[in-house]
Amino acid sequence: MKGVSSILVAVAMLAFSAHAEPNYDVSNSAAGYKINGGVKHTKTGLEIPLAFNSRKSSGKNLFGNTVDDLVVTVDYETADRLHVKIADKDRKQYTVPDSELGLVRPNIKHAAHNPNYEFKYTNRPFGFQVIRKSDKAKLFDTTDFPLVFEDQYLEVSTALPEDASIYGLGETVAPFLRHRNVTTLWARDAATPFYENQYGSHPYYTEIRNGKAHGTFLLNSHGMDIFLTGDGRLTYKVIGGVLDFYFFVPKDNTPNGVLSSYTDLIGKPFMPALWMLGWHQCRWGYKNLDHVQRVIDGYKDADIPLETVWIDIDYMDRLKDFTFDPVNFPKDRMVALGKQLHRNKQRFVTMVDPAISTNTNYSTYTRGQELDIFLKNSDGSEFVGQVWPGYTAFPDWWHPNVTEFWGKEMSDFINLLDLDGVWIDMNEPSSFCTGSCGDGKRDENPAVPWALSDEEAATLRKGWLKELDARGTSVPGDKRNLLYPKYSINNGAGYLSEKTAPTTALHHGGVPHYDIHNLYGHAEGYVSREVMLKNRPDERVFLLTRSSFAGSGRNMGHWTGDNHSLWSYLKNSITEIFNLNMFGISYVGADVCGFNGNTTETLCTRWSELGAFYPFARNHNAANQTDQEPYLWKSTTEASRIALAIRYSLLPYYYTLFEESHRVGTGVWRPLVFEYPEDKYLTNDYQVLVGKDLLISPVVTENATKVDAQFPKGLWYDWYDYESVIHGETEKTLDAPLTHIPLHIRGGAILPLKTPKYSVQETYETPYSLLIALDENSQAEGRLYIDDGHSLKQEATSDISFSFKDGKLQAKGTFGYKAAEKLEIIKVIGKEFSKATYNGHKLDVSKKDGALVLSDVGIELTGAFNIQFA
Ligand code: NOJ
Repeated sequence: MKGVSSILVAVAMLAFSAHAEPNYDVSNSAAGYKINGGVKHTKTGLEIPLAFNSRKSSGKNLFGNTVDDLVVTVDYETADRLHVKIADKDRKQYTVPDSELGLVRPNIKHAAHNPNYEFKYTNRPFGFQVIRKSDKAKLFDTTDFPLVFEDQYLEVSTALPEDASIYGLGETVAPFLRHRNVTTLWARDAATPFYENQYGSHPYYTEIRNGKAHGTFLLNSHGMDIFLTGDGRLTYKVIGGVLDFYFFVPKDNTPNGVLSSYTDLIGKPFMPALWMLGWHQCRWGYKNLDHVQRVIDGYKDADIPLETVWIDIDYMDRLKDFTFDPVNFPKDRMVALGKQLHRNKQRFVTMVDPAISTNTNYSTYTRGQELDIFLKNSDGSEFVGQVWPGYTAFPDWWHPNVTEFWGKEMSDFINLLDLDGVWIDMNEPSSFCTGSCGDGKRDENPAVPWALSDEEAATLRKGWLKELDARGTSVPGDKRNLLYPKYSINNGAGYLSEKTAPTTALHHGGVPHYDIHNLYGHAEGYVSREVMLKNRPDERVFLLTRSSFAGSGRNMGHWTGDNHSLWSYLKNSITEIFNLNMFGISYVGADVCGFNGNTTETLCTRWSELGAFYPFARNHNAANQTDQEPYLWKSTTEASRIALAIRYSLLPYYYTLFEESHRVGTGVWRPLVFEYPEDKYLTNDYQVLVGKDLLISPVVTENATKVDAQFPKGLWYDWYDYESVIHGETEKTLDAPLTHIPLHIRGGAILPLKTPKYSVQETYETPYSLLIALDENSQAEGRLYIDDGHSLKQEATSDISFSFKDGKLQAKGTFGYKAAEKLEIIKVIGKEFSKATYNGHKLDVSKKDGALVLSDVGIELTGAFNIQFA
């Protein structure tokens, strides 16, 4: 263990410094933990035994019971990943399952050789530092702060520069650069309030310090508050589990490198099928199938591409999963709709909620009961909550029979409708009562709480709370106060069991919901994907989830939930997509034109032109809001046609980016600061890089017809006229009349394109073209990935890299994909040439719309080739 022992540094005892004082008394130097016995060197790192420093009683039992004996396990997992786990010696604290229903941990056999970081620790009290070797930056440093480890309260802080640039910690609606606030993680059905906890839980951040990036992940599924108070520290306050940290320190110090390293651990984003990159239309509140048909026709008449038609809970018979409203959405017509869509090369997705009506005539429910898969109250009775169909039971995704149950219900349904994908909602899990709605509740039609007067709702809630309390605050064999832990996180809903399952509900094996709550949607996603794969083993699965956890992106896409038809939400959709990409979920989008509230023509127009470039692009609307399909307004129609034609022409570029994301982990949408971390002047968080080659500068404020845009170094060509070139490291005010979204191509990029048609399939049937945008040295590079667009396993793919240098275009790589794929048009911008030769043949060169154009080159993409320009 030479590598490890040489890294170990015995550091003299450090006392807690005064500025680290929290608002309760753990600042005493005698509090915290000390090393208790020998530090053991293991094959993968170190094991450090700790004991609570009990010389003084302050700092003991602050918000729970102090755990006296701890073990710190340090694993030098890879050159860029360090694992530091502080856990109770007795291993009684709940840890995220080491399985697909939690997070599968890597099997590390040996410590990494020559890692990019060092690990140091202090003795009494115990603290540790993670240091980047290259510049000695202390990336994580707990040595000045208390360590608290209790059954229901864990606290640890790291020192940070006062002006630290922290990104991540979500899912939260907030500016991209996180400043002076508390992020609470507790999965919650909430209509996207700024700075509050909502659907997903991702205890992860990227920090950029002096242009260099690293990442920190706390693998813990409990509720927590993360304080970023701007006073030189970041503090985690967690209500259970263990402190299981991973640090990511890639050699190249780039945000992309960090993301690649983070997704090595949590799993790479899934690879979408090509059709998923088309435009989606949805709404809650379609009245019947004629209404849906009018929408399909409306799109066609307006010549706005429509790839996928979605139906929300409206299709259900009294809102029960897997059933059909016999009048408005009858089964045979739903089946016929699926067939019609497929005939027209379109797709069909519907919603399925986890909550199952407890109506005893509902066979899905009775089958679930027979298999005993529903979540239980602490006394073993069935937990009953309330969602759309009234009283409901909730599948326990950790139950061994749940795959059998969910598999049958889902397969029958998917096969009946020939669905292309499933949308899983309300899986925080959302339930409208506070904890249980009452034992055995069924076959009634309870009012939804928000339809009642405040007084009625308050009375109802009082009843629920009474019932919750009557069942007790703990569960058998567990002394913790699971309902009202002493440290109460800043849950926007109030108590932990507010509008969800009681934290005393029991999952398989007696695991309280308290410990597992943040994993519910993540686990539903895994089970759903497994059963869908069993059903169609060769096809890529389409699943869209609302709740997510670290690693969910492996299995599913995500939309950012119930946003509002407001300009602030158009703007914030951008940072949310950046965040989710950082959390390993690349297939993500926000409801275009806004969900809650009535949109306006200008908002919907601006949103449609930006939404056309979302990784997942879907217009969605809440029930009872004015219609917002793009063809309803002239300007929205025009903007949608223009922007979607660009998206469809860029499909090969998007698809190649998704493949990179799936293989490497990098985002499809990237903030400027992540591509250019060293360039301090790039401060805005509303411009978007699609990959690294296309810069979107959207209008996100009402009535504006200009955008203040920042341009990184290099050349940036206007997408629309090629001729206006911006020399980077500059700010520019761009013209952006209502139906125009400014787009720029990076000089140095080669973009693979297609000719846009009405559907993705028709678009992909057109030949390829290349757009070569030269940099200051008249060079450029690009990549094109090709496969069959839908199969999980590919027999042969093509991975072509293009380069342009000294007037020569070179295509190299692998050319396994055998179906005829032709390159027909090549455009060069940035330099004049008068002739071009391919295989000794002269090609026709013309000048058109600001570019040099080779048309009809007719090259089969089956092998390497060169074209020489002169
Ligand atoms: C809540 C979801 O967030 C929303 O998208 C959906 O339309 C409604 N549930 C109704 O299913």
